[in-house]
Amino acid sequence: MSSNSVVVSGSSNRALAYRIAAALGAENGQVEIRKFPDNEKYVRVASDVKGRSVVLVQSMAFSPDEYLVESMLMAAALKGAGAKAVIAAIPYLAYARQDEKFKEGEVVSIELVARMLRSSGVDGLITVDAHRHRIIDFSSIFGGPSIDVSVMPQLGRYAIQAGFADSSTVVIGPDGEAEPWAASAAQSMNVKDYAALKKKRFGDEDVKVVTTRDIPLKGRRVLIVDDIISTGATIVEASKLLKESGAGQISVGCAHGIYVSDALYKIYKEGITNVFSSDSVPNQTTRVSVAQPIADGVKAILKEL
Ligand code: R5P
Repeated sequence: MSSNSVVVSGSSNRALAYRIAAALGAENGQVEIRKFPDNEKYVRVASDVKGRSVVLVQSMAFSPDEYLVESMLMAAALKGAGAKAVIAAIPYLAYARQDEKFKEGEVVSIELVARMLRSSGVDGLITVDAHRHRIIDFSSIFGGPSIDVSVMPQLGRYAIQAGFADSSTVVIGPDGEAEPWAASAAQSMNVKDYAALKKKRFGDEDVKVVTTRDIPLKGRRVLIVDDIISTGATIVEASKLLKESGAGQISVGCAHGIYVSDALYKIYKEGITNVFSSDSVPNQTTRVSVAQPIADGVKAILKEL
């Protein structure tokens, strides 16, 4: 990457911004971020970004509204300071799960969020294993180049290195949309058998998971992979079903470990202690980094801009 590029961080995940800058061989730029006494955000670009491509790193877990507004202010400030292009690297993109009007009166939140980012000055968007269940390509709603990179190969390789899996393991996606993630993790592990379960959601924490075909599980180790673990309900229900089908040790890897309230405890209570995730959302289960896939995505987007 050219020395004319710079990486700046929002306040959500500064360590990741440093890792991405290192993977790109780019400079770390400075943006002053603070709150006014009334809680509103203040941002000021403190590095020279004139004529440079800037990667804005932000992950939107835990305080999505705050980080969204902060990202928009940063993008506008960077453009105002003369940045040639702003690429937002948002591994965990909030609001992606409201990607349809499920009930009358709702809004497709992700469409609005994509437009808000675009209109504040973001030229390119990079996400990691985004929840694209119904909107397959964010470029269509964002109105500019958007790439979704994946950390599933890293999660798969980590499971092997940690001794949680080997070539006889079965990789499971807990719902139909997770099948490509299971396939990708399985490929990186040289594992032949992968499958997806079927999930029906009745409420935020109320899900039912069923199998749609016979998966030979008796005594076999299983690795469940998913994009997000939020309340943990999906993983708990999937593992109950897998255990009923005779599965042996179950391990779980996810891109974004949100773990709201006691989600991790609920998963551990099921007897699953091998839970790991990426640094998209840093927490005690973080074992792999999204920095390199994001750096690759940045290089690809720079070619398009
Ligand atoms: C939804 O379809 C996603 O892929 C995840 O399975 C879901 O977000 C997990 O949420 P929870 O942990 O609350 O079940």
